[in-house]
Amino acid sequence: MQRNQWKAASAQLLKHWSRSGISQVPNTTAESQAKAVSWLESHASFVFEASDPAIHGANVDGLSNSQVTPPITANWVAEPSSQRQTVPIAPQSVTESSLERFAEPNPSVIPSSAPRPTTPIAAMQPGVVGVWNSKSLPILEREVAFDELNAQVVECRKCEEIVCRRQRTVFGVGALNARVVMFGEAPGADEDRLGEPFVGAAGQLLDKILVASGLKRPEVYILNSLKCRPPNNRTPAEAEIENCRPFFEAQLETIQPEYIVCWGAVAVRAVLGSTDSVGRLRGRFHSYRGAKVLVTYHPSYLLRTPDAKKLTWEDMKMLMKDMGLPIPGKS
Ligand code: URA
Repeated sequence: MQRNQWKAASAQLLKHWSRSGISQVPNTTAESQAKAVSWLESHASFVFEASDPAIHGANVDGLSNSQVTPPITANWVAEPSSQRQTVPIAPQSVTESSLERFAEPNPSVIPSSAPRPTTPIAAMQPGVVGVWNSKSLPILEREVAFDELNAQVVECRKCEEIVCRRQRTVFGVGALNARVVMFGEAPGADEDRLGEPFVGAAGQLLDKILVASGLKRPEVYILNSLKCRPPNNRTPAEAEIENCRPFFEAQLETIQPEYIVCWGAVAVRAVLGSTDSVGRLRGRFHSYRGAKVLVTYHPSYLLRTPDAKKLTWEDMKMLMKDMGLPIPGKS
């Protein structure tokens, strides 16, 4: 294999692992993990360089081939930070008191052996329900599909009023094999600047809710009904949601999550096609194709109306119960 091919393949692999939420390669020792991480860190720029001569049978950058071969038991979590577009968030700094009305932090990861959903879908909403349109894709094909879709999003100029003001498009972030998709409204100023959903004040609250629920941000997938920030954070227009529909529907179809949480009325309109209020729709599961849909209040609303936090916490407990996750405070 040519060196540049090897590098492209390595870069792709790291990206897939990172985007897929893979944080562990089984059967590795702490020592081999540390070795692999330090190898990848020291070669990160090399892995991501643009073009190079062949490595076959030759030394590279003064390193012998055995030195440039990554340890087979490599354990690596993410792309080198210089390549990442994600924003550091600080769920680790969440303290019990900072959770306010949310329950104690429950840092348990989603157990892969967690019992599958048991609650029947209590209500069906408009739209096609019950099945996904297509066969579930292997993770690498999801990655490719998202790369292509993101390129289309970046090129999209359908919403005239928005496109001339946007700084970045905000495609979505998280695991492409997530059990749960968090569906929000639209990017705000911080998201527009950084290109990642839910990184501002509402995002900080969403992170706390996730931590309290035993869900980690990289384990879920987060996206919005719009990929671009509406001017002055105004409510997205129906036509704008329709312009974005092919994008978010393709994302949902690719991930095929078990659950979608609609945060606020705009998400409800986009996913369920309903104009009913959150208050009327919350408290039971709805359906979008193959996923159970839970409706709850938008984090921005919760920031303005702290009394509603207990209702969202009830909704999250319903989700956790159905997912087979431990509920804090319940033995
Ligand atoms: N509110 C949303 O609905 N989405 C974001 O990404 C940020 C704030």
